[in-house]
This record gives sequence, structure tokens and C-alpha cells, in this order.
Amino acid sequence: MGDYIVELRNISKAFGKTHALTDVNFRVGRAEVVGLIGDNGAGKSTLIKIISGVIAPDSGEIYIRGKKVDNWSVAAARRAGIETVYQDKALAEQQTIARNIFMGRELTGFLGFIRGKDAYNEANRLMRDIGFTSKVFSPDSIVATLSGGEKQGVAIARALYFDATLIILDEPTTALSLTESEKVFGFVRQIKQRGCSAIFISHNIYHVYDVADRFVILDRGRVVMSAEKHEVPSADQLVKDLQDIARTGRRIE
Ligand SMILES: Nc1ncnc2c1ncn2[C@@H]1O[C@H](COP(=O)(O)OP(=O)(O)O)[C@@H](O)[C@H]1O
Ligand SMILES: [Mg+2]
Repeated sequence: MGDYIVELRNISKAFGKTHALTDVNFRVGRAEVVGLIGDNGAGKSTLIKIISGVIAPDSGEIYIRGKKVDNWSVAAARRAGIETVYQDKALAEQQTIARNIFMGRELTGFLGFIRGKDAYNEANRLMRDIGFTSKVFSPDSIVATLSGGEKQGVAIARALYFDATLIILDEPTTALSLTESEKVFGFVRQIKQRGCSAIFISHNIYHVYDVADRFVILDRGRVVMSAEKHEVPSADQLVKDLQDIARTGRRIE
């Protein structure tokens, strides 16, 4: 149990008459990339908002590194090293990569204001760590000049700067081309190389298959399938399994 960074047990959450999540069990191990898959409205965002402390479940338990937590909150999640990259959380397009990585932290970090050269070097290190090549990008590059996938990379670098051990990406490739999605996969692989974990959310199995170690499929608020990568030989097989589940109501857990 202590091997999991996050473990949710029997989590339920309703919004009025909408049962967004029903009796959901979910966990993330160390240096593990979990692909969280489901159609629109399946409850994916609700699930990760519970992990990141944005909303409280109606019932169920949350364990962090094996310890049950109460009164889970955004601040507590952040202290535990859980950072979420929201699809709609825009970067400051006209600012540099370095500014975006440190934004909001210049004054509040316990080191106080981060001075120019230190910020530049730290941003440079984070960017190389997650796989930006120095020939093309510097911390002084303006974010507006980056492609969609590269912008996700900046958001990930920012999360790493917050000392994240679990980075949650809510539909990071939904608006991206295949080439751009590949860039995001590259960044996520680097997260894993650093020993960090990720939850990669998508409504498209083909967008998560390559990058995930394990798949969790949500359907109308319930986990209908959970499988390790080695149990699923291909994305096509995963799609077939899901069609089977939809037809028979069977679950694979
Ligand atoms: N704040 C909210 N108020 C009311 N209903 C909500 C709220 N958040 C989510 N829902 C509903 O809960 C269900 C699951 O939503 P969501 O978790 O956003 O799904 P997904 O991210 O998989 O598309 C949907 O029916 C959605 O309309
Ligand atoms: Mg969503």
C-alpha cells in the first residue's frame, strides 16, 4: 500500500442528480504513468479534481503514500507534490519561458525574489531535463512562438519546479496534432525518467496507449476496466475490449 503515491478507495461524487463518480478505486504508483480514459462526461476531470483537492468526494477514502488523509485540499495536495496541468489554464503568451515557469512564485517562494541569472539557469536546467533542445529554445524564448505541444512542455516544467512528484495532465493532447502529441509524450517520458509519476487523461485511447504503463477506463462514473500495459498488446485490442464491455456490461478489473 505504501508503494502508491495516491490511492482512492470507494470514491463517490454526485452533482445534484448526476453521479459523476460511483465507488471508484484508483491508484498511482511511483514513476508510473497512468492513462485515464473515458468519453466526455465519464468523470475523468472530477476524479483528478478530487486528487488535487479542488473538490471533496461525498464518500470514500484518500490515501497519500499509504496514509489516509482527511480534509484534503489544494494546499495539502500541493505540499504532497501533486501538480495539475489544466487544459484551459493559459500560459502568459507574451512572456518568456522562464517567466512562465516562475510566475506567481517570484514573491511567494521562501527564497524570495528569484534573480535574473538564477532564474535563467534554473529554467534552463528544467527545460533540458524534460527534453527541450538547446539549439531551438532558450529560457528567453517567448511562449507565443512555441507550438501547442511545446507549450504543454513549459507547463510541465513549471509543475516540476513546484517539486511535483505526481503531475496530472487533463486532456493535454485533445487540441494537438499527432506530431505535437508526440512532443507531449516525450515530456511525459522524461517525467517518468526523473522518477516522477503522471496521470495522463484522454478520451482517445490512441492518444494514451504509447505513453501509459497502465490504463484505467471510466464509463459514466464507474471504472469499467483497469489493465497493465503488458496485459493489453495494442491500442486496437484495448478498443476491442471496451466495445466488448459496452456490449456485455462485463467489467475487466
Ligand atoms: N461542477 C459541476 N456541477 C455540476 N455537474 C458537474 C460538475 N462537474 C462535473 N459535472 C458533471 O459530472 C459529469 C462528469 O464530468 P467530468 O468529470 O467533467 O467528465 P469528463 O472530464 O470525463 O468529461 C458530467 O455529467 C458533468 O456534467
Ligand atoms: Mg474533463
